[in-house]
Amino acid sequence: MVYEIRAAPTSVAGWVCQGVSWECDRPGGAIVTRLSGEHRAGCSGWLGVVRLDHVSKSYDRGGAVVTALRDVSLSVSQGEFCALMGPSGCGKSTLLHLVAGLDAPTSGEIILGGRSAKNFTDTDWTTIRRELIGMVFQSFHLIPSLTAEENVALPLLLKGEGGSPVRDRVAEHLDVVGMQARAKHRPGELSGGEQQRVAIARALVHRPQVILADEPTGNLDSTRGSEIIALLRSLPKRFGQAIILVTHSPDAARQADTVHMMRDGQLDARAT
Ligand SMILES: Nc1ncnc2c1ncn2[C@@H]1O[C@H](COP(=O)(O)OP(=O)(O)OP(=O)(O)O)[C@@H](O)[C@H]1O
Ligand SMILES: [Mg+2]
Repeated sequence: MVYEIRAAPTSVAGWVCQGVSWECDRPGGAIVTRLSGEHRAGCSGWLGVVRLDHVSKSYDRGGAVVTALRDVSLSVSQGEFCALMGPSGCGKSTLLHLVAGLDAPTSGEIILGGRSAKNFTDTDWTTIRRELIGMVFQSFHLIPSLTAEENVALPLLLKGEGGSPVRDRVAEHLDVVGMQARAKHRPGELSGGEQQRVAIARALVHRPQVILADEPTGNLDSTRGSEIIALLRSLPKRFGQAIILVTHSPDAARQADTVHMMRDGQLDARAT
């Protein structure tokens, strides 16, 4: 179902939004699955799309409790490119997993599109992960039996799309990450860096509203890594997407609108 929002032209922080339509999972629902009309970041209806409110996460490892996140509050707006940095084990991947609903906070709240994730059903999470969020994991999670192009096509096929528009979109995204020549290869026939590039294409192909990228350039040489960061940098401006990028690279973080430093599960934000 598509609900039309004919907003008056609005200007917030220099960005403009008008005549935006989006698809919700129910009347008045805030889950965005499609965006059309003239939209750029900063429309008030999209601000604060990802929010963590006093989130903590502990794991019980055979009686020993490991606290991965401690009272983390963070807001990432539509159109914001946010970088998350910090030493190994400080909780960066845990934070992304909670935002993607792959795990639940021990306390505090995750809020997506203005709705508390506490109220999400399994169906809500399926829709969100399929259509709203694009994820690039540290381990690539490609499906070994599918070729590169079939892996990249998956998010579109799961949305019920098919035919030549899917083929064109897949080809475009494989090209963007420099993997067009290996489209017919299965993950086992690709290097780690090549698999990572396929995983990036898969995370972007359905134009998700939120991109969660966990060290997406960790296996790439510096030239290819810079190209991927430049691509990510361009997306919020072109499509109003929100990006949370986990990176160890100061060069990559310099491209971000906001850099958050983590240490021992805690966040120390400073705008760049
Ligand atoms: N499923 C789990 N069970 C138990 N402990 C976990 C689990 N997942 C993460 N941890 C612990 O939580 C802490 C944070 O882990 P996390 O993976 O978020 O770190 P990170 O900042 O992403 O590190 P890296 O830069 O090495 O990827 C670590 O001490 C880790 O061992
Ligand atoms: Mg990690």
